[in-house]
Amino acid sequence: MRMFDIIAKKRDGKELLAEEIKFFIDGYVSGEIKDYQVSALLMAIYFNGLSEAETTELTMCMAKSGDMIDLSTIPGIKVDKHSTGGVGDKTTLIISPMVAALGVHVAKMSGRGLGHTGGTIDKMESIPNLKTAVDREKFFNIVRKIGLCVIGQSGNIVPADKKLYALRDVTATIDNMQLIAASIMSKKIAAGSDCILLDVKAGSGAFMKTLDGSIELAKTMVKIGENVDRKTVALITDMDRPLGLAIGNSLEIMEVCKTLKGEGPEDLTEICISLAANMLNLAGKGEIPECEMLARSTIEDGSAFNKLKEMVNALGGDTRVLDNNDLFEKAKVKYVVKSPSEGYINSMDTEKCGTSAVILGAGRETKESSIDFSAGIVLNKKVSDYVNLGDTIATFYSSSLEKCKSAERLFMNGIIISPVMPQEEPLIYARVTKDKIEKYEVANCRR
Ligand code: URA
Repeated sequence: MRMFDIIAKKRDGKELLAEEIKFFIDGYVSGEIKDYQVSALLMAIYFNGLSEAETTELTMCMAKSGDMIDLSTIPGIKVDKHSTGGVGDKTTLIISPMVAALGVHVAKMSGRGLGHTGGTIDKMESIPNLKTAVDREKFFNIVRKIGLCVIGQSGNIVPADKKLYALRDVTATIDNMQLIAASIMSKKIAAGSDCILLDVKAGSGAFMKTLDGSIELAKTMVKIGENVDRKTVALITDMDRPLGLAIGNSLEIMEVCKTLKGEGPEDLTEICISLAANMLNLAGKGEIPECEMLARSTIEDGSAFNKLKEMVNALGGDTRVLDNNDLFEKAKVKYVVKSPSEGYINSMDTEKCGTSAVILGAGRETKESSIDFSAGIVLNKKVSDYVNLGDTIATFYSSSLEKCKSAERLFMNGIIISPVMPQEEPLIYARVTKDKIEKYEVANCRR
């Protein structure tokens, strides 16, 4: 078999055989096939796409390119969750304790921030002393003991994706539906859970900006999961405004605590109830309305907050900051962003909000940059709110006034204030299962 022929076949729009996909992945991971040939194949895939069979084969070859985690020694059904990435998206740290408090095990590997989006692992590391690099045995023991453990991606998990992702990043081949689906699903399948809930974001703060694009991506990923016997469901959720009010690592942990104590913002709370209910439903805990009530009960009785504290403690973190958020290290500079006019906040460019938080220090400007855990944004107003001239729209936290001023320029550039109240949009647009796509209207969907 020759890589040359595989490239030519895909260039000519033909379907690759399973053994040809395996040949290219194995050869690329071992170093026998070089970047220049894989770049050519990626571009041919970009233009000609992959069939469902090819996408599933690619996903499985990628998943098997490194360690496949076997969670079968942990009793019960294990449910994983993946978000395609957003701004202010701290849902993993809210819903995982919720479902674990109800006896559904979560053994989850999460990522760091990427571009303008935040990452669960960075948020967790804002808790003093907490370690997210944990060996396999300790990870399993924590899940067995408390039913929940979220750690950073460790060991040799999907090396094919590490190489392919880096190459796609520099060859303009990231935004291809099948390549994104294979990249995400290979990691979820290698991570070993029985069921997978996908939170596919749509809107200005998401990688997938349009609703149709997000639904297509969700359908592709659900099919891959189901083709390899993982029960998979996707919710398409709104990322046309940041989720909740806090953007930035320790600020988001504070909002996680508030939400688990029943004092969180309504949008975040309601999305978390829906996501948790879908995880519970996947684990066989009942129909969605019943699972929503169960999820809500873990906030009301404090069991989800206690579960979060148990996990933080097991990972060596200082749980005192969860009980008393004032113990988090404070940012040097607090800066208030004021409204330049009066009217309704018509829209907020969510990618600009995320990038503003990165400028403040909450994310990485380069791979080598370190994060300022206390930096970020707390929104005082959101889309649809009315503002008077001089009202506070947001509060910035950073290490310097200069960063605040620079972030303010970008942030305000993304905000449109108008005399007309914007139309209400759903928080959850659709639910995609292997059998159907349910689309939700505003009326069916809490805000
Ligand atoms: N996230 C991933 O893990 N992979 C992609 O290709 C895009 C987003």
